[in-house]
Amino acid sequence: MSKSTLALIAAGSAAAVPTSTLPNLPPITGAPAPQPLPTPVSQPVSSNLPLAPVNPSGVLKYGLTPPIPDTNITPSHLSSYNRMTRNPHWVAEHFTPQSLSQNNASRRNSVFYEDTTVPPMFRAKLHDYFRSGYDRGHQTPAADAKWSQDAMDSTFVLSNMCPQVGDGFNRDYWAHFEDFCRNLTKHYPSIRVVTGPLYLPKQHPDGKWRVTYEVIGNPPNVAVPTHFYKVIYGEDHLSNPGCKVALGAFVLPNTEIPNRKSLRDFEVPLEAVERASGLIFADKLPMERRKRLCTEVNCEVLVREFDKAKQQGNALNAGQKPAAQIAQESRRW
Ligand SMILES: *[C@@H]1O[C@H](CO)[C@@H](O)[C@H](O)[C@H]1NC(C)=O
Ligand SMILES: *[C@@H]1O[C@H](CO)[C@@H](O)[C@H](O)[C@H]1NC(C)=O
Repeated sequence: MSKSTLALIAAGSAAAVPTSTLPNLPPITGAPAPQPLPTPVSQPVSSNLPLAPVNPSGVLKYGLTPPIPDTNITPSHLSSYNRMTRNPHWVAEHFTPQSLSQNNASRRNSVFYEDTTVPPMFRAKLHDYFRSGYDRGHQTPAADAKWSQDAMDSTFVLSNMCPQVGDGFNRDYWAHFEDFCRNLTKHYPSIRVVTGPLYLPKQHPDGKWRVTYEVIGNPPNVAVPTHFYKVIYGEDHLSNPGCKVALGAFVLPNTEIPNRKSLRDFEVPLEAVERASGLIFADKLPMERRKRLCTEVNCEVLVREFDKAKQQGNALNAGQKPAAQIAQESRRW
């Protein structure tokens, strides 16, 4: 699949989740915690039922497991890995004005490496990305971990990467978005960011919704996400456990985005990211402690490269969806 086709698909699928489903969302609080797998039982669950002649749980004795999320704790981030897509489910980081002010590392000293805590058959490999046309896109950015070389090095693990469109996205708008997050330390003493991939359905000409994504590597191994999300938690106190938290959720297509586009166009309800990702982000944060990030700060990326923006504008006119259309679609979230 060509990059521009991917771009179109990715941009188009911003409209993936119809707003009409929003009112049916379950309440954010009070969802049950995930339960461990039951141990095999041979008794029927209700005494009204006859003694079951079968025992489906008996298969567990052979080693059938629920999905294993390969949780990785590093100096720079905490991550949960998806063995099916070979990308993370989510990567969580934390930074403060003080952590960002320390400049003890250079990315020139860091190298990309495979996550050997993931079993080889499920691991993203360096050669999967080689000549794929995609960047190894950091989910927790290297620049957020300048406080130590070890911390920065740990952002280069492939379980912190997803294939990202390079020009116009990873090296441009996405990088500015990361800078926007760092700039939030001017307003909040403590920032948490959870970042990860999405694979969103797109409506096809026959009217049906399908998820289509490229898989890179030979044999094909690593999924190319159609979108990426960031959930931002701006904590208004470093250590007060009852502090207010400004929440912001954003979904961006994995495609070229002109610098002049407003970040507000990518803001979505937190529930939209939860529905699309299958994850829960703030179940334990009561409503009275929540604030909305974009009512507190100006959700714009300010980029000075006027020429670059103009260039991207031309490329956009040459065949991709107009920015206004992408904006409209992401608002349908
Ligand atoms: C980083 O450098 C600062 C000085 O700029 C030093 O005080 C601090 O201990 C260093 N931190 C680490 C984790 O190496
Ligand atoms: C972050 O702040 C700096 C300094 O004010 C500014 O130059 C830069 O444009 C900001 N970054 C973004 C992406 O808005």
